[in-house]
Amino acid sequence: MKPRDMNPFDVRSIDVSKRRGRGGEGRDMSRLLSDFGHELPSAAPALHPPKDARLFRHVPPRGARRPGRGWASGAAPVSTWRMTSEQAPVLWPFISTPGLPPTGAQMGIDLLSGGSFYADPLGWVLDDTVPVTNPNIFSLGKPGRGKSATTKAFCLRMMDFGYRVLVLGDPKDEYEPLCRFLDVEPFAIGHGLPARINPLAFGPLITGWDQLSAEAAQGRAAIVFARWLTLVRGLVGSQRIGEHRVPFGPTDEVVVKAALAHLTGYAHGNTRMRETTIPHLWRLLDAPTSELVAQCRYADERHFLDDTRMLRDALGQLVSGALAGLFDDHTSIDWTGPPRSSR
Ligand SMILES: Nc1ncnc2c1ncn2[C@@H]1O[C@H](COP(=O)(O)OP(=O)(O)O)[C@@H](O)[C@H]1O
Ligand SMILES: [Mg+2]
Repeated sequence: MKPRDMNPFDVRSIDVSKRRGRGGEGRDMSRLLSDFGHELPSAAPALHPPKDARLFRHVPPRGARRPGRGWASGAAPVSTWRMTSEQAPVLWPFISTPGLPPTGAQMGIDLLSGGSFYADPLGWVLDDTVPVTNPNIFSLGKPGRGKSATTKAFCLRMMDFGYRVLVLGDPKDEYEPLCRFLDVEPFAIGHGLPARINPLAFGPLITGWDQLSAEAAQGRAAIVFARWLTLVRGLVGSQRIGEHRVPFGPTDEVVVKAALAHLTGYAHGNTRMRETTIPHLWRLLDAPTSELVAQCRYADERHFLDDTRMLRDALGQLVSGALAGLFDDHTSIDWTGPPRSSR
């Protein structure tokens, strides 16, 4: 481009670079325009915010391939995800489904997964795909937080699945309204009340006893006698001498077991068992037969009576003392049958 061809007002025709090339004395575009009274709008300087140190770095599935960084030669079977901390809480703690199947009573919300929570303790135990091996439940919480309410709701909801509920004791009269709601009459045992529970009842195990072979009868007797001993130990041991519980040691166990075998007819090889009661047991120990004294390896009746005084007095309390009127006769309530309900 020749200088004479130049239109001084045509900024496009000025070869800035060439003129700069000649010693760098030329004006640049903005200088040139400002000389003619025009100001080029200046672009705002690009903002480059200072880089924060990265908190999370993407790590390849095998780890960083550097010494001491735990690099794995085999690919771990995990999927890698990149997300912002805004998205992460949606997946964290990476629980996709509740660990338990949705069977049994619907009890509320599983706060971890946000799904419904169902409780089915016996169903869980029976299902081999569920890693639950014990159906018992502990309900823990501060007073007034809803343990009892949840327990009652659970009982009520499980009834729809055919479960029968046995409430063993209702010290706060909480379950009575639930019974009344279901038109069920609760059994009440206590002083002055007519209902009795016989701890020495056979229960359903008496069924068909007379048809059992000697071996089968022996097996069943072992179960029944073990239960009775546990119950008598509990009833005797529930009583106190000062700070201590009344002891029920091995010798007491031998005496009670022998006496029960006499009273039921098991000791005499009877095929038909006779149900006995705590008063019968007490009376036999108070006036032992010579056969019982000899069987329990006592020198004589005096020796037997001296040695069993504490046991006899504890049993006497169940018959005529503080615990009288609860466990001192044959069972007078039928809790093996269907509940008395009109629903
Ligand atoms: N989910 C609930 N919604 C509303 N009230 C409840 C709930 N659970 C319990 N309650 C009420 O809270 C009170 C205390 O509950 P309760 O089950 O007796 O507590 P806890 O047995 O833990 O001491 C009761 O009046 C009960 O009706
Ligand atoms: Mg409670």
